[in-house]
This record gives sequence, structure tokens and C-alpha cells, in this order.
Amino acid sequence: MRDDRRRSEPEDDANGKGPFSECAADGARGGDQATAPLVQALLEYAAQNPVRFHMPGHKGRAPAGAAAHPRASLPPAADTATGAGAAPRKGITSSEAGTSGSGGAAAGATDPEFARLLLAGGGAFAADVTEIDGLDDLHAPEGAIAAAQRLAAQAYGADETFFLVNGSTCGLHAAIMATCRPGDEIIVSRDTHRAIAGGLVLSGARPVYVAPEVDELYQIPLGPSPAAVKTALERHPGARAVVVTNPSYYGVAPDIKTLVATVHDYGKIAVVDEAHGAHLPFHEALPLSALEAGADAVVSGAHKSLPAMTQASFLHLNLRSGAVDPEAVRRALRLIETTSPSYVLMASLDAARRVAATRGRELLDRTIRAAAAARERLSGIPGVACLDADRLAARGFAHDPTKLLVSFAGLGSLGVTGVEVARLLRERHGVEVELADARNILAILTMADSWADVQALVEAIESVVAAFVKGTRRDHAAYGSDMPGDARRDGSPGGDGVPTGTRGDSGKAAAAGMATYTGSHAGLGGAEGGAGPEGAARTRHEATSPGDAAGAGAGAGAGDGAEHAGADRGPSPAAVCDVLKDVPPLRMTPREAALSGAEWVPLDEACGRVSADAIVPYPPGVPVVCPGEEITGALVEFLRDAVSSGQAARLRGVRRDGQVLAVAGH
Ligand SMILES: Cc1ncc(COP(=O)(O)O)c(C=O)c1O
Repeated sequence: MRDDRRRSEPEDDANGKGPFSECAADGARGGDQATAPLVQALLEYAAQNPVRFHMPGHKGRAPAGAAAHPRASLPPAADTATGAGAAPRKGITSSEAGTSGSGGAAAGATDPEFARLLLAGGGAFAADVTEIDGLDDLHAPEGAIAAAQRLAAQAYGADETFFLVNGSTCGLHAAIMATCRPGDEIIVSRDTHRAIAGGLVLSGARPVYVAPEVDELYQIPLGPSPAAVKTALERHPGARAVVVTNPSYYGVAPDIKTLVATVHDYGKIAVVDEAHGAHLPFHEALPLSALEAGADAVVSGAHKSLPAMTQASFLHLNLRSGAVDPEAVRRALRLIETTSPSYVLMASLDAARRVAATRGRELLDRTIRAAAAARERLSGIPGVACLDADRLAARGFAHDPTKLLVSFAGLGSLGVTGVEVARLLRERHGVEVELADARNILAILTMADSWADVQALVEAIESVVAAFVKGTRRDHAAYGSDMPGDARRDGSPGGDGVPTGTRGDSGKAAAAGMATYTGSHAGLGGAEGGAGPEGAARTRHEATSPGDAAGAGAGAGAGDGAEHAGADRGPSPAAVCDVLKDVPPLRMTPREAALSGAEWVPLDEACGRVSADAIVPYPPGVPVVCPGEEITGALVEFLRDAVSSGQAARLRGVRRDGQVLAVAGH
């Protein structure tokens, strides 16, 4: 039908060419219809096979032998030791990637049966089905889906669990819709993800924001203190619910037990965004999960921290208090979730739950120890710091040790930014991190990571930093060749093939089998200026300019690194935190604003108008203004700075020319 309509359109080109003059002779539409850019991009990414420290939590890996099913027909290049189909990664050999060095545990945590389902025979195509007899129905589950959801509920200690195929976002939307009616007040931590703002639009609820505390070194929001939430509860006795995040993207967990107890003391519903906390119940060294703390509705992002597929999440309900009506949740999910749920995603939830419930503790144990060793090693580099439990405990927060937040703020004078480090990790070392901003990088570790992966990350960071410090390209090459990782880059085994943690490192790093940093600390001060901050300071003065150091870091010709170091630092985390602390006046509900007519206005004319959309800097995906809020002078300043320094593309809700959406007439 669309074809007919198009064919009937008049020829409108001055040259007499019709609108489909670019069509190929075989009838293809305009553009090169023989290409599939996204397929190509994914193929290229997969071929690079980076060491992944980003979501999803399965890290692109399947257990050895997953494809070796009788129906298997994978290409011969498949290397099931490193993950099915994987070629050796840049910087480490396949044998290292597939084993943990001295630890001996294989990388990957994907459920073997699920991996077989996706890799053998017709693979994902065979597993991609619809609601046919015997396969149940997500929106009216009675069979296999119901049984799988029951098991998930039991694993998490919930009374009812819903499988979600539209990400944690749809679970948060449903939880808010099920607890709030239009006009109801809901107390919300200001540093919540944009998904919460969507829930406010859908429900019509009126938010009461609580400003987060901020960490000054990392310049990240920590979340609200229980005292601040209590004050909001005192001031808004009519509020229906409270929404908090546990843990944050950065691995910061609030005192969830006190928070939930406080919310319940005031007779309110505790809704918790655990998009980054699906692993919490499975190891005692991790922060308390919201369900364990007694929260009423908890959205648990399986795809982020468990070996589940992207978009696959859980919504757990605690029905003991009777605060949440499961029927209302079902109704909301029917409204917002697809009627064609992917069985691949749902099966991945079932499989991830099985892995977490049966092997989670053992796998997470390895992850937590590897992360601790990495933190210890990286914190030993002058100018580099890693967020840890001690620092957070001093502020009343807990730490999820599987999140490795590394700050390069102490190397700012060398032009080192998190964004630049992330770029060099990717381009020079084949390591991809989750997030980078002007001062930090965030690596997400999951139960799928091996110690060899973590070693590769640590060594790559050390190498990048050392190159910045040394400041010349020649030194970078010489320095790099000393690195245990570099020795393996040509495919030869790393010295004696034993993880270098056995070569004299001490403490947790050695215990965890981390490589000893044989070359880098020499570069960072040991040989050049003595270890420690003093030596680093001396070395730092030797770099002729931040640009030189950056160029050395790139190791790819003069100017390369320097150019990037100056050009793309990401939105200033300090500025984001300042804006988050300063909650603007709410002039209409998010729903009223988002559904109103809207117009683009230049920043110069935006002050005092009502925002029609959320404006969200990435990273971290936390809105600096939500629909219905006044666009303040401080926000305009923040946006002007961000746009003028080339950051418009990192701001969702802002046009490249800096215009923002305001409610028409307001
Ligand atoms: C804290 C937080 N909550 C919710 C979400 C939304 O999760 P999803 O992408 O699964 O919809 C995210 C996504 O990154 C997040 O970081």
C-alpha cells in the first residue's frame, strides 16, 4: 500500500527526475539499499572483540563448547575458549582471555544451556519465536513463563516478579503508574535516571525532588541522605511514594535499610531503581539489595550486571505490606510493554537467574577480588584515585565494588581527561569502558569477567597514564615494551606465562593473581623521580605541555592525542552536580508539560520558560531539567557552556544549535 501511494506521487524534480530517481533498476529505494550500516557496525565491533567493561553483563561471551551442539554450524574461526566466535582480543592472547591466569577459572558466566540455545543450529533464529502453544504468554503467564518468573521471585526474595523486555525503564514506568495517580505527590531523589521522569509523565504524578549529596573529588552525585528524605516526608505528608536508586551507575549505594524504614515509618511506598543492582542479593560483600531492605517495588536491571541480554530486566514486588497492587502493575505493563515480547530476552532472564542463584556467589567472589586488586594497583599510581568503600562510608554510603570508578583528576595538569583515557584504551589497547567524563572513567565488572580481563584493563590504564607522564612518543614506545601486556601483544606468552602477581607483588593484588606492574611504576616515578607524589610531580614538570603528553599517550603521531584531549571532555561533572543540587521550581506537572504544545527557543530567550522535555547530559543520563520545570538562569548558563564547548551532542533534549523545547506560551 505504501508502494502504491509513493508511485502515485508526481514527478517533482526540475530535471524531470521523480522522487525515486535514485532507485536501483531492481526497484530498490533511494540510498544504497544493498548496505546495512548497523549490521556492518556491529560486525566491525564484534571483529574488534574488545575487552568489554561495559554493559551488558554477559560481556559478549559464551561458555566453551556452547556451539558444539550436534546442530552447530558456526564458522571455523569461532574460538569458544574466549567466547563463541571470538578472535583473540587486541592486547591479550586467546589463552589469556579464556583463562584467569593463576586463578584457573574460565571467563564468561553465560548459562551453558542458554548459550547452546543461541549458538547451535539455527541459533538465535531458532530461539526467536512468538506465543505459540506451549510457550506461554508474558501478559497472561500460566506455563513456562509463569514458572520462570516464580523462580526469579524466589531467587530474589520477592512475592511476585515480572519479566521485562523493554528494559528497566518500563518497570520503573509501571511501578510509578501503579503507585501514583495524576496529581499525587511522589518524593524523588534528584539524581535519578531519566526513566523516572518518564514515569512521572505517564502517571501524572507531581514530583518533590530531594537534592543529592555530591562527592567533590569524583564530582558525582551520591544520592540523598536519609535525613533529607525524612525532611521531604515531613513536609509532604500527602506523598504516595518515594523513589531512590540503589546503587547508582557509579556504584554508590545509599543506606537503603534506613531509607526504606523511614519511608515505611511515614506510611509511604518505597520504589527502588536497582537497574544497576541485579547482582546485589548474590554476594554478602555487596551492598544490601532493596528487597532485603523491605522495599515494595524494585526494578532490577538483569542486563546490566547479570549475564542477560540487553533490555532484559525484572520488576520485583514485595506484597507483604499490601502497599502495591499487583493488578495495577499488570495493567500498567499491559499498557506500556510490547505485545510481542522477545523469547530470547525472556529466556536470558531465566538463564541469568539460574546462573546468579546457583553460581553467583562463587563467580562474584572472583569479580570482587579482581576489582579490589585493580583498585589497589590503580590507586598506587600518583594522580590516580579509585572510588572505594572507605571514602563512601565516611559519607554514610556503601560501595558496590564491582564498579570501578577511576579518577584522573590528579593528572589534570597533564591534560589527562577520562574521555581521553577512554579513547586511548579503546584505540591502543582494545579495552572499552562503560563511561567517561572530564575526570573519570567507569569500568563495569560483572561475574563474566576473568582476572585476565581485569589485568588487561589495569595494564592498559597504567600504560596510558605512563605515556601521558613521560610525554614523548619515543618514551611511550620504549615504556610500552616493558609492559607485561605489551610483551603479549605480539602473541607470545607473557614471560613465563604465569600471571605476574607471582613476581613479587604483595597484598591483595598478589592474592588475586594480578600482574605486577613491572614497567609502569618506573615510568611513573620509580626510575624517573622516585615513587609517590613527589616523584610524580617532578615527572609532570618534564612534560612540555598537556598537549605533548596527550600526543604521547596517543602514540600515533604528533597532535593526535592533543587534539582529542582538548576537544572532547564531556559535560563538566562538577557543573552537572551543581545543577542537580539546585532543583528548579516546578511550574506544571511533568505530564502537563510533556503533553503540551512546545516550541524550540534559543538559549538566550529560554530563561523563565517552562521546559517541555527532559534535558539529559550523557554521561550519566540524569536529567538536569525535567518537563514542567522552570528553565533557570543557572541552567541556561550550564547549557550555554556545554554547547559552546562542543558538548551539544552529549545533551539529549538540546538541539545542536543550542535551542531547547519550552511549553508553548509558558
Ligand atoms: C540508574 C538507571 N536507572 C534506570 C535505567 C534504565 O534502564 P534500561 O536502560 O534497562 O531501560 C538506567 C539506564 O542506564 C540507569 O542507569
